[in-house]
Amino acid sequence: MNEPAGVSPPDMSAFWMPFTANRQFKSAPRLLASAKGMYYTSHDGRRILDGTAGLWCVNAGHCRDEIVAAVQAQAAEMDFAPTFQMGHPKAFEAATKIARHTPGDLKHIFFANSGSEAVDTALKIALAYHLAQGEGQRTRMIGRERGYHGVGFGGISVGGIAPNRKAFSGGLLPAVDHLPHTLNLKEAAFSKGQPAWGAHLADELERLVALHDASTIAAVIVEPVAGSTGVLIPPQGYLQRLRDICDRHGILLIFDEVITGWGRLGAPFAAQYFGVTPDLLTMAKGTNNAAAPMGAVAASAKIHDAIVNGAPAGIELFHGYTYSGHPIAAAAACATIDLYEREQLFERAARMAPLFEKAIHKLNGEPHVIDVRNLGLVGGVELASRADAPGARAYEVFVRCFEKGVLTRYTGDILAFSPPLIVEEAQIEEIFGTVAEVLRETE
Ligand SMILES: Cc1ncc(COP(=O)(O)O)c(C=O)c1O
Repeated sequence: MNEPAGVSPPDMSAFWMPFTANRQFKSAPRLLASAKGMYYTSHDGRRILDGTAGLWCVNAGHCRDEIVAAVQAQAAEMDFAPTFQMGHPKAFEAATKIARHTPGDLKHIFFANSGSEAVDTALKIALAYHLAQGEGQRTRMIGRERGYHGVGFGGISVGGIAPNRKAFSGGLLPAVDHLPHTLNLKEAAFSKGQPAWGAHLADELERLVALHDASTIAAVIVEPVAGSTGVLIPPQGYLQRLRDICDRHGILLIFDEVITGWGRLGAPFAAQYFGVTPDLLTMAKGTNNAAAPMGAVAASAKIHDAIVNGAPAGIELFHGYTYSGHPIAAAAACATIDLYEREQLFERAARMAPLFEKAIHKLNGEPHVIDVRNLGLVGGVELASRADAPGARAYEVFVRCFEKGVLTRYTGDILAFSPPLIVEEAQIEEIFGTVAEVLRETE
């Protein structure tokens, strides 16, 4: 493990930090200096158990030797090569390896550099598909309340998180509607796995179809398990019902698997876990273990062929990024996917899931806890909010856990957990044991 960088923090004024209370953070910073396996080392030299795989992304654990070596070798061999009317082998190899794991016939991989870009790419592919089919009037997108689809204008338009939209409302996509979210503590609090209640909420899509007419709707986009909004587990049968309604009306179904992809639920993607195949699937984060920025869209044969084979000679889709299939990100993806396969990490996640479920549900009955929910190796613990300060209690728990050596995440008053898939049973116990201890100390 690298030596900690020392205790004196850097000058922090220039970096305007993302999704951060900058003034609060810079007055009491939490700095990470190095990482290995299940642990970070903080700037002041403390070991921090990673209960969140960084930001839901380091699924194979930190600084894995094989991925480090692949990144180093690629950086030395070829730092960059364009993928516009040019190519390099690693991007093709990475797409082929990704396609080994994507569901159904979603075997055409379009590269982006983040989840946000993957989402906007998927929305554009959906529009391009309908145009190619002679249905260019299908432009409406249906998202879901509390959905998080990144921060591009497309993503915040279909997303359903109010603060992410508020300041930008003048620039949202014009034709968007939202399904209701599926969380209902009265009906489903403390459900283990998928709640039995709530499949009927998918029928709201029929209501939106009746309102807007199917002929105007391009796609429905949902996270199979909503992560960033506080871990909302889909009710039993809900996703299948969405699929059926989309099929009935010629609407494309997009799964945003930026969090659920790459083993989080104990299968390659949530699509395989739930047995529901979308038409387009977005991924990022775990695709290359977050060793370099990378996002991607997997498209079905129907969509790819309609756009690519249906176009006149020349460029078929006027879309792409300078760094689409960047050599270093692609090399990291190849090494990561090899590692997932060799260590059978998705199967491992499936094996650990019951232990994770048992451990997280021990928090039922601890102070302030009003719900515990889980699926695979992802879990959420919802706390009662303080009347005068929503979010303050979970923030305090997050800070105290960090001080005690466990990294958690919080959103509003919900704590979220998504450890690397290499997590050991004792580490699961340590994560939730620390949270229990902190909850007892928190007002
Ligand atoms: C479901 C989902 N979609 C999109 C994104 C955006 O990804 P990025 O932050 O890489 O742009 C995220 C990020 O957490 C996400 O969870």
